Amino acid sequence: MSLAVQIRQHGGPEELHVADVEVGQPGPGQIRIRHHAVGLNFIDVYHRTGLYPLQMPAGIGMEGAGVVEAVGEGVTHLRVGDRAAYAANPPGSYCEVRVMPAQNVCRLPDGIDFETGAAMMLKGLTAQYLLKKTLPVEGLVPGDFVLFHAAAGGVGLIACQWAKALGLQLIGTAGSDAKCRLALDNGAAHAINYATEDFAARVKEITGGKGVKVVYDSVGKDTWEKSLDCLRPFGLMASFGNASGPVPPFAPGSLGAKGSLYVTRQTLFTHISSREATQAMADDLFEVVESGAVKIHIDQRYRLADVQQAHRDLEARKTTGCTILTLP
Ligand SMILES: NC(=O)c1ccc[n+]([C@@H]2O[C@H](COP(=O)([O-])OP(=O)(O)OC[C@H]3O[C@@H](n4cnc5c(N)ncnc54)[C@H](OP(=O)(O)O)[C@@H]3O)[C@@H](O)[C@H]2O)c1
Repeated sequence: MSLAVQIRQHGGPEELHVADVEVGQPGPGQIRIRHHAVGLNFIDVYHRTGLYPLQMPAGIGMEGAGVVEAVGEGVTHLRVGDRAAYAANPPGSYCEVRVMPAQNVCRLPDGIDFETGAAMMLKGLTAQYLLKKTLPVEGLVPGDFVLFHAAAGGVGLIACQWAKALGLQLIGTAGSDAKCRLALDNGAAHAINYATEDFAARVKEITGGKGVKVVYDSVGKDTWEKSLDCLRPFGLMASFGNASGPVPPFAPGSLGAKGSLYVTRQTLFTHISSREATQAMADDLFEVVESGAVKIHIDQRYRLADVQQAHRDLEARKTTGCTILTLP
């Protein structure tokens, strides 16, 4: 048996219920993992509200770290007793023990503790594919400017540090002066409080009127239009989230008028669709974390029983960096 958070219908944080559920044996391609910590992500909010619909009843959560307890047929990269961490489908990581597909579960290096592992996999692999693989046609070279929205959040603080390690000048936006300071402390070259400042005008000022080569935008509805105005000709608008709501439909013709821009909508799950790709990206992430180039900031910890409050705080923009659920 395991304590597990479930929803029976889409809705507010009050729909998150902790229940006692039965856990079986892993089938082919699966493992059973006992979590030591679980990561919280904004996608969990989309799953809960139904922006990304789930079949009911549903588990929630896509990130965790713990010890492998049992291994199903055909799984060769993990053994019983291995320390492991993952970002993976299907949702259901808010629990003590679960059976799940092994494909995206990686052995956790000894130098990385369980809480860090649980906090960093989904957010860190996202920062990895954005900065390393989601590039403008002209590429990115040290010294280039990029704009990264919500820079003091979970993905954001990792991206600030990783971009600096790559020699990029990351301009971060955030919703308060305190969050802007945090982004600067973590390697952002510039920070803009988009609650009080016109971020497009500031980006133009910072870049000497040229604009940036890429905008990484997870805020969605509220930042979409102005973000296009921050780009250089042939620049890339990389949309990867909807914290303020989904991006509304737009006319492709406007991309021509604004400088022959490119637009992409990325999701981590395309990037980690094979075991080999998952491991290669995870190895890159483990390296920057173990070297100290990227520090994982766990700024909030909630008990599994307090999961409703964790969701309230995340949605109310009260969190910074990473958030984890701790287990009894
Ligand atoms: N596509 C992918 O592969 C992928 C993978 C991981 C994450 N994501 C996306 O990346 C974003 C960051 O994820 P995360 O888990 O690290 O979350 P997070 O950044 O820690 O939290 C979301 C942040 O978005 C900002 N925000 C702006 N408008 C908001 C609004 N109306 N309501 C709530 N928040 C708002 C807030 O920061 P400020 O107060 O500073 O504005 C808030 O702290 C999310 O949009 C998530 O869906 C996408």
